[in-house]
Amino acid sequence: MIINPFYYGGAITDEHFCNRIQELKELKQDINAGLNLLIYAPRRFGKTSFVLKALDELKDTNTKYIFLDLMYISTQEEFINKYFNAIAQSLEQSSKKVVKFFKSVVKLRPNINVNFDYIGTPSFSLALSDENRHTTLEEVMNSILDFAKKSKIIVVFDEFQEIVNLELEAKLRSIIQMHSNKVSYIFMGSKKSLLNQMFMDKNRPFYKSVKHFQIKEIKKESWCSFIMEKFNQTNKIINEKYIDEIIAITKGFPYYTQQFGYEIWNLTQNSATDEIFHKALKTIISREEALFTMEWDNITPNQKKAIKIIIDKYGKNLYDEQYLAKYHIKTGSIQTALKALIQKDIVDKNKDRYYFQDPLFEYYIRENF
Ligand SMILES: Nc1ncnc2c1ncn2[C@@H]1O[C@H](COP(=O)(O)OP(=O)(O)OP(=O)(O)O)[C@@H](O)[C@H]1O
Ligand SMILES: [Mg+2]
Repeated sequence: MIINPFYYGGAITDEHFCNRIQELKELKQDINAGLNLLIYAPRRFGKTSFVLKALDELKDTNTKYIFLDLMYISTQEEFINKYFNAIAQSLEQSSKKVVKFFKSVVKLRPNINVNFDYIGTPSFSLALSDENRHTTLEEVMNSILDFAKKSKIIVVFDEFQEIVNLELEAKLRSIIQMHSNKVSYIFMGSKKSLLNQMFMDKNRPFYKSVKHFQIKEIKKESWCSFIMEKFNQTNKIINEKYIDEIIAITKGFPYYTQQFGYEIWNLTQNSATDEIFHKALKTIISREEALFTMEWDNITPNQKKAIKIIIDKYGKNLYDEQYLAKYHIKTGSIQTALKALIQKDIVDKNKDRYYFQDPLFEYYIRENF
């Protein structure tokens, strides 16, 4: 049986990775230059895959990284332990040696617990008290300075916006500041509005402390050769017109484009047809439908009107009187609605054009409401 050559879900590696060649080059350059970076993009845009691939390509240049996914972290203690465990595991040494190392660098000598999972992989945690928590965090974070003497060290915080409620921003910033030129930090996340507040607000600790690194949708030409090749290699055919239709809907958004590839390939015996394309589209939409209707139900009537005007006007010149009259909305109200939609990470603005963060949501609303 031939395995479906497309994949969607978690982070991907080489064979599923399409393009981003220029961006990878730039990211590696920035990492080599020791910059601290902020990378934000919508959910499922390929952030994690992208950064992991760049780090993997730097493996041979004596670069080591520590990767922390902060998605479900809700307390300071969890944060410190996640960090501690990530560093300890990256040492790739026997647990005895790891414990010995930390006993030598963490002055407070807290109890270090080691647990083994069923295949014998150790995980490490610290017994923390309220009083020693911040000092321990500092010592844990500083412990990587020891490795930074031998290799280049990168610390990646994935879903960094999740620390907002931990009251750790100032502490983290002050420690990280002391690491400049020794350790580089990459902050990643999907909630643009929260990250913007953290990095663009003068009163916040991380204000202007990073380079904003942009990743964009993958271009149609790259998808075209990627998708066609995957079909060809598995003895199937897809006409370019279907790739045009896919990209017209997904706008090159990686997660959805892979889904189209996956579903169309599954349904195709020899050559993709109109019928197959529409069946695939229906499957993908039905998978997301519950979420989209919930999102739609959760916004105010004025926000719905603003969304319809964005769709009608392709994101530009939204204060057109004809449309304001059509939807019975005033200039001030649409302004407020647009602000709220940006805050909710539904809509974003690029120069003078508003657009949807999720292209399939846009398609769904356009077709159904
Ligand atoms: N460069 C790429 N080429 C092809 N497909 C990609 C690429 N990057 C991401 N994808 C697709 O998008 C999916 C999600 O990728 P990834 O987990 O890296 O995104 P993310 O932005 O980190 O998502 P999340 O918001 O869930 O953390 C992958 O499973 C894959 O289908
Ligand atoms: Mg991710």
